[in-house]
Amino acid sequence: MSATFVSVHDYEQEAKRILPKAVFDYYFSGADEQETLADNVAAFSRWRLFPRVLRDVSRLDLSVSVLGQQLSMPVCVAATAMQRMAHPDGETATMRACSSAGTGMMLSSWATSTIEEVAEAAPDGVRWMQLYIYKDRDLTLSLVRRAEKAGYKGIFVTVDTPYLGRRRNDVRNRFKLPSHLRMANFASPDLAFSSKEGYGDDSGLAVYVAQAIDPTLQWEHIAWLKSVTSLPVVLKGVLRAEDAVEALKYGVDGILVSNHGARQLDSVPATIDVLPEIMEAVGGRVEVFLDGGVRRGTDVLKALALGARAVFVGRPVLWGLACGGDKGVSDVLQMLREELHLALALAGCRSLKEVDKSLVKKSGFYSRI
Ligand SMILES: Cc1cc2nc3c(=O)[nH]c(=O)nc-3n(C[C@H](O)[C@H](O)[C@H](O)COP(=O)(O)O)c2cc1C
Repeated sequence: MSATFVSVHDYEQEAKRILPKAVFDYYFSGADEQETLADNVAAFSRWRLFPRVLRDVSRLDLSVSVLGQQLSMPVCVAATAMQRMAHPDGETATMRACSSAGTGMMLSSWATSTIEEVAEAAPDGVRWMQLYIYKDRDLTLSLVRRAEKAGYKGIFVTVDTPYLGRRRNDVRNRFKLPSHLRMANFASPDLAFSSKEGYGDDSGLAVYVAQAIDPTLQWEHIAWLKSVTSLPVVLKGVLRAEDAVEALKYGVDGILVSNHGARQLDSVPATIDVLPEIMEAVGGRVEVFLDGGVRRGTDVLKALALGARAVFVGRPVLWGLACGGDKGVSDVLQMLREELHLALALAGCRSLKEVDKSLVKKSGFYSRI
């Protein structure tokens, strides 16, 4: 990769140049006015870092355990659908890159590679399954069983998508998969998002979700999921403390504070801004993660300081994939690792254990002192 790539934003610019417009739009967009899309990124700048000095930071340890798996850094890969639109190797390339980076990958239910192909791409790599609850409960269960069999280490059940958020560009582009691709985990063309009848004038994916995904999604589904699998279950898409507390009653093993990369309900807060109240409500009882707008090492540091065990990145990985397949994803992960390493050192932290709340303050507060 060229020396001109010095930030995640550089990968985004290059991906925008390379990818067909409808594909870039699908990957990039947020819902409605995209207020939250911008805020997810901007919010990190409202938090200020307060470094310690004179702490011998010549040796740093970035390793962390996530749901019982040892990872080389607290930056993991979030589920993003249909990765073969970015590169012919799609999710298998992402899995290989994660495995060489020593971090974990969350595979989308809507992957264009099968659960098994991704496992075979890097048998020793840490992988988790992102689960959408389908109207067809047996079909949903079969995804869980396949993930268990293929060595996935946990289920991230997405709880913010009873319907698809309205992403205007996808409506304008009548977004659908290119004809040579399908959602690889489903046999029938309808469920594989390759319906022969097409999807009319709307975003094809919005039509797909309305047909296939269960809008009755409620706590009972979480109880069901916990009852059918012994894998750790993480709720993906929590934004309120009450929901985090409720989740604990159902025995979930983790909470991913997420607004789906600002693609569902617009105008919700940036995830970094709600993390503190969720941490307080959870009180250390389960692992809490964050995704949304993480683009720099300092973003990761701020999320960790506010209590996240690890963060997940979505779009940055797609930009790396578009720019160079598994090498591109590896480069993006390496860039985030190096940025985090430097941020930790300059903040005077020798390991993640030394990262705590005292490192950050919201800038509104900061500006008054
Ligand atoms: C193109 C794209 C596809 C996504 N597909 C899924 C998906 O299939 N399932 C899911 O739970 N979340 C999905 N997400 C949300 C991500 O898992 C994650 O929450 C979000 O991307 C994090 O924000 P970031 O992109 O700003 O890092 C998708 C996000 C994007 C950008």
